[in-house]
Amino acid sequence: MDPLAADNVLVEIEDGIAWVQLNRPEKRNAMSVGLAEDMNRVLDALEVDDRCGVIVLTGVGEAFSAGMDLKDFFRATDGVSDVERMRAYRSTRAWQWRSLMHYAKPTIAMVNGYCFGGAFTPLICCDLAIAAEDATFGLSEINWGVIPGGVVSKAISTLMNDRKAMYYVMTGEKFDGARAETLGLVNEAVPADRLRARTVELAKVLLDKNPTVLRQARLAYKYARYMDWEQAAEYLTAKADQTTFVDPERGREQGLKQFLDDKTYRPGHGTYSR
Ligand code: ACO
Repeated sequence: MDPLAADNVLVEIEDGIAWVQLNRPEKRNAMSVGLAEDMNRVLDALEVDDRCGVIVLTGVGEAFSAGMDLKDFFRATDGVSDVERMRAYRSTRAWQWRSLMHYAKPTIAMVNGYCFGGAFTPLICCDLAIAAEDATFGLSEINWGVIPGGVVSKAISTLMNDRKAMYYVMTGEKFDGARAETLGLVNEAVPADRLRARTVELAKVLLDKNPTVLRQARLAYKYARYMDWEQAAEYLTAKADQTTFVDPERGREQGLKQFLDDKTYRPGHGTYSR
């Protein structure tokens, strides 16, 4: 069975970019248990698929994702045992957070439309994010009588300042892509008709980098931010050594040689010649 063939996720690979598209447009890409199972399989497969250098996570149709599927994750799990409920949540946590946060390849969330509630978790766990200016975001949980649970409250606290996060947690007010940029939730917001082109442009920048060093740099940042300064200094020094050790391209050596000896490029202006 092709691991990339999935009912709830559409995968297309082109020029090193894997377009991973949540594919329940008739449900505004609400994230169901089936979608979670598909996403786990797809992400696992793409991590070792040489055709994929960068992942773009987006949605088919007019939504990025309308959040957790309220039927699957709330109504259907009411009245079942806590063990069954835990099992239902496990597969979602696996892809939305554990997998994406420390994924082996760079990830870009491309927010094409609605992005509500639980959708903030994969959005924030992607490395980078670009939104259409007219995309619609909202922590709508309060509007239907729940708290931003799962891991949404924790996730937003890593990117938004407390006043702004609390405002949206408490009001459930919607905001657009341009506002998401000023809140730090996305790197940039662009007109909808430029969304794909700008995402491709950014993905190509990433594809030009040494993939081993890029992976180590991403992971080093994500782990070091939760350490104190002493731990971070020790960890990052060891991580830098590890990077040199595992890099088949020997990028550090190349970079130093081309700058200091050959004088063919300047690191301040761009990447060494690969
Ligand atoms: N869970 C389950 N089903 C959903 C969800 C969801 N999160 N979002 C949309 N759907 C379903 C609708 O029930 C509807 O199903 P039906 O065709 O069987 O009736 C279908 O998707 C289309 O939705 P509409 O509401 O008809 O689409 P519309 O374009 O008018 O509105 C919008 C889109 C604004 C996204 C609306 O569907 C909505 O408010 N969805 C819920 C958003 C939300 O609050 N999500 C939960 C966040 S909290 C959390 O994730 C834990």
